[in-house]
Amino acid sequence: MYKIIDGKLVSQSVKDSVKAEVEVLKEKGVEVTLAVIIVGDDPASRVYVNNKKKACEYVGFRSLEYALPAQTSQEELMALVDELNAREDVNGILCQLPLPKHLDEKAVIEAISPKKDVDAFHAVNVGQIMIGDYDFLPCTPAGVMEMLSYYDIDVTGKNCVVIGRSNIVGKPMAMLLLHKNGTVTITHSRTVDLKNVTNKADILVAAIGKAKFVGEDMVKDGAVVIDVGMNRDENGKLCGDVDFDAVAPKCSYITPVPGGVGPMTIAVLMKNTLKACKLQKNL
Ligand code: GUN
Repeated sequence: MYKIIDGKLVSQSVKDSVKAEVEVLKEKGVEVTLAVIIVGDDPASRVYVNNKKKACEYVGFRSLEYALPAQTSQEELMALVDELNAREDVNGILCQLPLPKHLDEKAVIEAISPKKDVDAFHAVNVGQIMIGDYDFLPCTPAGVMEMLSYYDIDVTGKNCVVIGRSNIVGKPMAMLLLHKNGTVTITHSRTVDLKNVTNKADILVAAIGKAKFVGEDMVKDGAVVIDVGMNRDENGKLCGDVDFDAVAPKCSYITPVPGGVGPMTIAVLMKNTLKACKLQKNL
C-alpha cells in the first residue's frame, strides 16, 4: 500500500517554524518584507502571486506587490528592480515568471541583488548551490528535499532519476539529491529509451510539464515518486506529470497534485525570505 506525501502538512510545518521566528524578530522591532513583481495578466501567475501574498500574511511578513502592465518596458522593470535592491526595508525580491515575450528574463534575474534573490535564480546563487555552500536554495527542489526529510526517506546511495532539465527545477533538483549522496541521472526529451532509465529509479522526480506523462510502465515497484508537474488534463482538471491513479499502486510513496509539491515551493520561499532578512541584518 502506498503512502501519500502530504505537501499541505509539510508546508504547514515549514511555515509554522518561519512564523515562530518572525514573532521573535517582531519583538526585536525587525520586520521581514518580500517585494513581488508581476508583469501582465497571466492568470496562472496571478494565482501564484496571490498564494505567495497569502503565505506572507500567514507567517507575518510584510508583502509589497508591484503589478505592472503587460506593455511595461525593460527599462521601467529594471528601474524598479534597482529601486528595490537599494531599499533597506525590502529583504527579498521576486519577479514572477514567465514575463511577457518582449522582456528579457535573464537580464531581470541577473539584476536582482543575489542577497535579495529569494528564488535563488541569480548566477551567483546557482553557482553557490553547485559548490554546496549557499544561502538560498531554489524553492521547488528544496521543497522536495523537505518532503523527503519529513517522511524519513533516505537518499544516500539511492538511484535518483530526474525527468526534466530546467534551470528552475530539473538541474538544481539533481544537485540537491547529489548533496544528499544520491546517485543521480538527469533525463530529458532527447534521452534514449527513457523508460529503461526511469524503471531503475528508487526516487523518481517528474518535472517536464506534460500531463500524466509518467505511466505505470515507467516506474519500479516500491519507488518514491515526486510529481512537480502542474498541468490541466483533457477535462481542464488540475493534474501532474504523473498518471497518479495508474502509478500510485506501484509506489512506496507518492505526491499528489494538487496538494503535493506546489505548497512546498511557497513554504521554502518564506524560509528564504526570512533568511535574507537575517543575513542582511546580521541576525
Ligand atoms: N514561475 C514559475 N515558478 C516560479 C518560481 O518559483 N518563481 C518565480 N519567480 N516565478 C515562477
